[in-house]
Amino acid sequence: MPAIGMGTWHMGEDRASEEDEAGALCAGMAAGMRLIDTAEMYADGDTERVVGAALKKALHGGVPGLTRDDLFVVDKVLPEHAGADDVRRSCEASLNRLGTEYLDLYLLHWRGDVPLAETVAEFRKLCDEGLIRRWGVSNLDVPAMEELMAVPGGDGCATDQVLYHLGSRGVEVALQPWLRTHRMPMMAYSPLAQGGTRSRRGLFQDPTVRAIAQHHQATPAQVLLAWVLRDDHTVAIPMASSITHAQQNAAAAALRLTEEDLTQLDEAFPAPTEKQPLDWL
Ligand SMILES: NC(=O)c1ccc[n+]([C@@H]2O[C@H](COP(=O)([O-])OP(=O)(O)OC[C@H]3O[C@@H](n4cnc5c(N)ncnc54)[C@H](OP(=O)(O)O)[C@@H]3O)[C@@H](O)[C@H]2O)c1
Repeated sequence: MPAIGMGTWHMGEDRASEEDEAGALCAGMAAGMRLIDTAEMYADGDTERVVGAALKKALHGGVPGLTRDDLFVVDKVLPEHAGADDVRRSCEASLNRLGTEYLDLYLLHWRGDVPLAETVAEFRKLCDEGLIRRWGVSNLDVPAMEELMAVPGGDGCATDQVLYHLGSRGVEVALQPWLRTHRMPMMAYSPLAQGGTRSRRGLFQDPTVRAIAQHHQATPAQVLLAWVLRDDHTVAIPMASSITHAQQNAAAAALRLTEEDLTQLDEAFPAPTEKQPLDWL
């Protein structure tokens, strides 16, 4: 799984911005980003249409040499569509809106009333039929992950996508170590603090973050992304609707924070020492 990708939440909500949004995704691909994260929930499917337009543009000359196999498309099924038959219907509708034949990763967006065993069985069928390459979950904490491991095929889960950034470190107490033990990468959403316990403005304006950014000739946003990516076990999926932001985010994957940077950031934004409820948006 690529370490850095592109989120898409809120794209497709305003027709007038769609072309620019697809352009930003295309620019991100041109700058080297290969993972795109979307969901059937976003703009009731219209976000997937914007992603589809970006894929079409990138794969038809927008990004020379790029092929579908180079890309890693992530989509999510709503919990109310996670039962037998409904998963397939949702998946096919998403593929249709995206204009692609398969998803690289299909996630349960959050846990609802459908038993995990039923959803996993459907995901496995979609894998067998080649509609999806892998499946995973989102917004599940350790007890639900333990439950997942106990259902048939549950240990085939590829990732857990959760809210994580410098100002929202609750998962470090239990979930992140659990995922490491199970050799499952964590996918960090809202890595630029769109949601979570600390305000985004506070993080971007923080003197420690700003000093480290200045030292590396980077932006505060790039420092936040490099921090999420520091352990090679976490994927970050920042959303950028501007081309400049998309290019900066692609470049952030090459930024390596020093031990001293990490110590300073730990002092400014300490990790909690006790288990916290999962942050989510
Ligand atoms: N699984 C889930 O339940 C869940 C929940 C939330 C999000 N997600 C996924 O995670 C993705 C990312 O999370 P998010 O959208 O909540 O927020 P985010 O990535 O933390 O923040 C997005 C905001 O950051 C700005 N930004 C992007 N790059 C920047 C840069 N280099 N410098 C300064 N500002 C920058 C964007 O502005 P511009 O648009 O102006 O560029 C946008 O306002 C979502 O889009 C979605 O795909 C999943």
